[in-house]
Amino acid sequence: MVEFARMVDLHCHYLPAVDDGAANLNEGLDLIRAAHDNGISRILLTPHIHVGRYDNTNSSLQTRFETFRRAITAANIPVEIALAAEVRCSDDLFGLIEQEEVPFLLDAKGNKTLLLEMPHSHVPPGVDQLVRWLLKRNIRPMLAHPERNKEFMKYPHRLADLCSAGCLTQITAAAVIGRFGEKSQHAAHALLNDDLVSVIATDAHNLQHRPPLLREAANWVAQNFGEERAWRLVGATPAALSTGNFYRRAAQPRKSVAVIATHDLNLREAPQVAKPITVESFNSIKTAPTAGTDFCEQAFSRLREKLNERAAQPGGAGSKAARTLAIMDDWRVR
Ligand SMILES: [Fe+2]
Repeated sequence: MVEFARMVDLHCHYLPAVDDGAANLNEGLDLIRAAHDNGISRILLTPHIHVGRYDNTNSSLQTRFETFRRAITAANIPVEIALAAEVRCSDDLFGLIEQEEVPFLLDAKGNKTLLLEMPHSHVPPGVDQLVRWLLKRNIRPMLAHPERNKEFMKYPHRLADLCSAGCLTQITAAAVIGRFGEKSQHAAHALLNDDLVSVIATDAHNLQHRPPLLREAANWVAQNFGEERAWRLVGATPAALSTGNFYRRAAQPRKSVAVIATHDLNLREAPQVAKPITVESFNSIKTAPTAGTDFCEQAFSRLREKLNERAAQPGGAGSKAARTLAIMDDWRVR
């Protein structure tokens, strides 16, 4: 089993008493602990915004979020949290966005990413127009769990078309490992095969039936598609998406690769390389205004030096380092 650390979860329901996720503060804290135990270090809380069912808004969620953040700090759970939302696809979405009542996954320098939920039964008519409307406003939709949508399962080209139009996709960790049944698992695997998955997230709701299982899904992907692909789906891409760099395509790969390379090196054996990244870690990457900052340049060049040394060694460690170098040379985040 690959022990991925510092994974990033972009979809979960831990904010207490706002939807069908954590019912109260204790349940919320238990879920955060479980996520941390699962290897997750950064969590975007994504309560439902579904008019008429979960009437949450950015304004109503902010106070609850701050209270929950303070409780996590007091409980001494070492995870970083931020607020976003899983927003139901409906006509109400236009007004909510215009009133700035939707917290986005990414909201940096005018570029935003929206976690968009369709009904499980079908793809609502007008979605293509909605996607165009969003993209015109620099809001990139990320489609939540398409592997559980009956229309996408039956007509996979509908999803491929939306991806071509500019949508990202998030599949659910539990579906990858079969916890939502055979059909959803098959759909999730088909999307991975077709390279139509941007990130894997937990969409965890509770400890009993829908716990965080990101590590388990990452391991399945690592076994079937390799470790780099797994890390891209549970670490590099969600980190880039949640740190505001996703749209700067020329710059962002350097940061993502730094994250991957740090993971691939055995950090205990390379403290001089590890120090600038592990100590400051995502916080430094997050606050670096561009990839051209001293932090990224220096860390990147130290990583490359170390990997070059490692690549010259015989055996598995050498070939792993060579593979990482190859990715550094030719890296593209979907
Ligand atoms: Fe969800």
